[in-house]
Amino acid sequence: MRKRMLAGNWKMNKLNGDLAAFFAAFGNAVTGDAAVAAAERVDVLFAVPYTLLAQAVVAAAPWGIRIAAQNLHADPSGAFTGEISIPMLKEAGVTASLIGHSERRQFFGETDATVARKTRAALEQGMLPIVCLGETLVEREAGQTEAVVKRQLAAVMEALPPGPVADAMVLAYEPVWAIGTGRSATSQQAEEVHHFLRSQLSTHLGAAAAGQMRILYGGSASPANIAELLAQPDIDGGLVGGASLKPDDFARMVLTAL
Ligand code: 13P
Repeated sequence: MRKRMLAGNWKMNKLNGDLAAFFAAFGNAVTGDAAVAAAERVDVLFAVPYTLLAQAVVAAAPWGIRIAAQNLHADPSGAFTGEISIPMLKEAGVTASLIGHSERRQFFGETDATVARKTRAALEQGMLPIVCLGETLVEREAGQTEAVVKRQLAAVMEALPPGPVADAMVLAYEPVWAIGTGRSATSQQAEEVHHFLRSQLSTHLGAAAAGQMRILYGGSASPANIAELLAQPDIDGGLVGGASLKPDDFARMVLTAL
């Protein structure tokens, strides 16, 4: 049985001054039995901007919420101006990171190779990688969805360190055309790709590991559609942008996932 995960991605939003009010509102919405159930049944996590990490770790701790980075550099230190390493993130109390988000691939030149390298580094250093993949609208309309996600996944799989990884990493399927557009993939469209990814995982890692690894859906996930998405057999949670900025909306999504 895979434990669900709801991960907020704040992207380049919010300031440290917003944290106390956000977590107070979130905490008020998920209280009592629901809070206990949430801790047991759903991993809740927020990927926040670098400047918020250390304070967010403290602000989120009372709710059992993990804080993640949105990116990292694969090397532990060195002449890489503007980059942040895994030891730096760990020092701030961060235990997970998004890797290869489509906005990093689209606007900051990340490739399958850099995503693979970062994933390997995260696994080697005990940081949970949440590896993002997904096709663009042009690719979907050209019938290339499976070919694209297969290629993106294979690059990561071929770079894995030795040893079991099924519990040590998470995949996030985020169709680029659904991100920030209000046009979510239908639950059926999402399930088709999740199912395909799980079959690919089985090829790379074997059936047991494929059955263990969590695959999140991202792209206009909201309180309105999360129940239907989570009802699909291969969808284990959500990677949520816009709706994670609103504590009440995100709390409703967590309560739906219980
Ligand atoms: P939205 O939920 O705003 O569409 O963003 C999805 C996303 O990119 C999460 O990483």
